Amino acid sequence: ATIHDQKATRGNGGELHQTAEGDTPVLTTAQGGPVADDQNSLRAGERGPTLIEDFHFREKIFHFDHERIPERVVHARGYGAHGFFETYESLAAYTRADLFQRAGEQTPAFVRFSTVAGSKGSFDLARDVRGFAVKIYTKEGNWDLVGNNIPVFFIQDAIKFPDVIHSVKPEPDREFPQAQSAHDNFWDFISLTPESMHMVMWVMSDRAIPRSFRFMEGFGVHTFRFVNAKDESTFVKFHWKPKLGLQSVAWNEAVKINGADPDFHRRDLWQAIQSGNFPEWELHVQLFDQDFADSFDFDILDPTKIIPEEILPTKAVGRLVLDRMPDNFFAETEQVAFMTQNVPPGIDFSDDPLLQGRNFSYLDTQLKRLGSPNFTHLPINAPKCPFQHFQQDGHMAMRNPVGRVNYQPNSWGEGPRESPMKGFRHFASQEQGPKLRIRAESFADHYSQARQFFISQTPPEQRHIADALTFELSKVEMPVIRERMVAHLLNIDETLGKKVGHALGLQTMPKPAEAAVATRQDLDPSPALSIIQR
Ligand code: HEM
Repeated sequence: ATIHDQKATRGNGGELHQTAEGDTPVLTTAQGGPVADDQNSLRAGERGPTLIEDFHFREKIFHFDHERIPERVVHARGYGAHGFFETYESLAAYTRADLFQRAGEQTPAFVRFSTVAGSKGSFDLARDVRGFAVKIYTKEGNWDLVGNNIPVFFIQDAIKFPDVIHSVKPEPDREFPQAQSAHDNFWDFISLTPESMHMVMWVMSDRAIPRSFRFMEGFGVHTFRFVNAKDESTFVKFHWKPKLGLQSVAWNEAVKINGADPDFHRRDLWQAIQSGNFPEWELHVQLFDQDFADSFDFDILDPTKIIPEEILPTKAVGRLVLDRMPDNFFAETEQVAFMTQNVPPGIDFSDDPLLQGRNFSYLDTQLKRLGSPNFTHLPINAPKCPFQHFQQDGHMAMRNPVGRVNYQPNSWGEGPRESPMKGFRHFASQEQGPKLRIRAESFADHYSQARQFFISQTPPEQRHIADALTFELSKVEMPVIRERMVAHLLNIDETLGKKVGHALGLQTMPKPAEAAVATRQDLDPSPALSIIQR
């Protein structure tokens, strides 16, 4: 029934009451009770106070009052879509993961794209990293590849994550700036954290203002492991490559788009999928063994480094197609819970200290955000393969153990059992050494790949990086922070450093930052490391 052919009457105050007729369902309370009047609360007299007896009013307002859940502490603004992953060929030689065994097999998937720093209501074209989180519902449980559109990260150790995120988010006294990195706290932290230089070059490049989600690459960032049926391990890096190619907007376009249509990226994805123009990415892998890893002068456990494709070409192993928008944004895109620790048998972790920390953080944060250990009962998070375990109860338990048995071993012959063959076996890597809070020297080169990235850019792209740095640093009020950043840039590329330094109006160029990290004993007061006296 349309609004026009529905039977409607006017109430005493002239309000419109559309009543259920024919096939139109009757409005009910959440308890299923039919509702006669949804527009007037129960009063004592025509103009009297509302009565506490009005259960319909109380239920409606109570539910509304509780509609909000915490937004994600990072990646709050995101947009998702359903689709599938299709395997090109069997990778049985490398991994026993079921989804990689048979050519042509399709596995359901859900993807959420996001910005990192902005709040849920911020704009799409912020200069920022983009999240590229993929949940693949395999026959051996969910595999979450929680990546970004940039192949490296700001920090080498997860213990620094709260600091880098605090620094990029609005400053605690003034609660601005929103959704952009151009401010003192961010650049202060970055300038004191040389390990972030490689990532910063990517973030200042056109990669950080993509034309749409459909024109973005995605990266698993860390080194992972494939483990085959013989329990042999191969290191693997994951890359998503868009079929449409890589495209960005220019900064002045980004600024205008943010003003004219802050939903530019989500509108693009919605329209593309609704019109049958399904976006597609190929999954590429870089595969290598321990000897190959040992041949590098950087550490493959260091998430601030890439393995250049010139040295190790990628191999396409499957494709991801997004062909269906969620029916409900909140139920699916907002409640989806990605967790790096969700891996099927045959995919395993490396000792990358950022990945190790993430494997703790995501479970913790989902409990906080979704409020119950039963968030896996939500349809978007539940596995699509058969699953059975003895976890029970808790808030909102939708599926509890059936029957008498909720433990094992048991004598009842009931319930699920362990499977040493089918179950997940952690790769038995050799680990030894003293317990220390220390970073290996193999993590110490922070400039070579930043330089390689800058040099690999075309002249217009290099100009965009210089312009972005100039714009961003010109918003920084504290001169020493600007100087420290120019000192880093001079080490990355002298021309770049001088260009930005001059554009910022520095009278004299600082000394280039030291290439190696200073130890605690020999901190010198050069601009690269000096502490601000407020
Ligand atoms: C959320 C990627 C590092 C903690 C996310 C999301 C992505 C992502 C894509 C959004 C997921 C979604 O769409 O729901 C990455 C990448 C990292 C990284 C690629 C580095 C390579 C870290 C680290 C930590 C961390 C080091 C903490 C130790 C979180 C948290 C969330 C999150 C708490 C919010 C999750 C939620 O509420 O759903 N990350 N992240 N991330 N990440 Fe990371």
